[in-house]
Amino acid sequence: MEDWRALLEAEKTLDTGVYTKHDLLIVRGQGAKVWDAEGNEYIDCVGGYGVANLGHGNPEVVEAVKRQAETLMAMPQTLPTPMRGEFYRTLTALLPPELNRVFPVNSGTEANEAALKFARAHTGRKKFVAAMRGFSGRTMGSLSVTWEPKYREPFLPLVEPVEFIPYNDVEALKRAVDEETAALILEPVQGEGGVRPATKEFLQAAREITWEKGALLILDEIQTGMGRTGRRFAFEHYGIVPDILTLAKAIGGGVPLGVAVMREEIARSMPKGGHGTTFGGNPLAMAAGVAALRYLERTRLWERAAELGPWFMEKLREIPSPKIREVRGLGLMVGLELKEKAAPYIARLEKEHRVLTLQAGPTVIRFLPPLVIQKEDLERVVEAVRAVLT
Ligand SMILES: Cc1ncc(COP(=O)(O)O)c(C=O)c1O
Repeated sequence: MEDWRALLEAEKTLDTGVYTKHDLLIVRGQGAKVWDAEGNEYIDCVGGYGVANLGHGNPEVVEAVKRQAETLMAMPQTLPTPMRGEFYRTLTALLPPELNRVFPVNSGTEANEAALKFARAHTGRKKFVAAMRGFSGRTMGSLSVTWEPKYREPFLPLVEPVEFIPYNDVEALKRAVDEETAALILEPVQGEGGVRPATKEFLQAAREITWEKGALLILDEIQTGMGRTGRRFAFEHYGIVPDILTLAKAIGGGVPLGVAVMREEIARSMPKGGHGTTFGGNPLAMAAGVAALRYLERTRLWERAAELGPWFMEKLREIPSPKIREVRGLGLMVGLELKEKAAPYIARLEKEHRVLTLQAGPTVIRFLPPLVIQKEDLERVVEAVRAVLT
């Protein structure tokens, strides 16, 4: 690519500097691989932070986006358009019957913003309960229920009151969720917080206690949805149904799309015009979402995650390195916790082995490969991890 170094430089220098950027320019992706401007091939276990479940350049999503771009790209929600109905129908058909009202947005944090507002509108209560190490997004509302103090504290005051409880602690849950609580918001597997799956006991107690107290249970499946954990949606592992389910990342097949899906009476509690978004539910994202959901359904990619995930974790556990504290995860959402900082190893995986991974907290290497990844490529990832850790 002509002048790629100048483009990389422009991105780095004209950017706000909020992100620590890698020193490479990614120009193309296909399946579980991406290529930089010099033609180097990488195995992509970043997976667009969990967007690329169906693989980069998924042909069915690409075709749907092309077709829709030629037909109609923008149309606000006051003007119905065919792809919106199609998307709502396709999504709700895959969910339990009570989750039958859809509010479309453009990102994960917006899906949680919507969920929090619907919860307040429905219950008439103010308080939220969230989990320590939980991550819900960076806009002011979602940030209020995100735990990490370094993300939250520079921006106080945020939405109040919020009470944080230790994840997987049923007794703390019983103490925190009360008659003042609008909603409890949880990730079924904490992603950003270090890849920590919920226990069955914890999520089932969360369901029962919120019912008992008249609070709503919001499950944030922005990272765990769309087959990632070995089921279509992670709540299926736990035998519970939330009051509001938030999805984003992979649901648009690569196009920005988020949704809050809820029970009908919750939807009805929001006053007309009480929430809104210009781009949310745009035909382009809706067409991409329909194609992504249909592809997931036809290929049953969650079964691949259920098969490859445990195998991959077992292979990582076999690496004889005293630096490894634990390997954990659910499906193809995998974290390898070290006894030391993860960043230098993540850098070496990229530079020495052309394997892209991401961090989850200071000591965890996180793997979110596209679910279409070949087993041979995961074997190469294991070998690369072995090489940097032993
Ligand atoms: C569980 C969870 N919730 C919310 C978000 C925020 O999503 P977005 O970055 O699309 O706003 C993320 C993103 O990493 C996430 O993992």
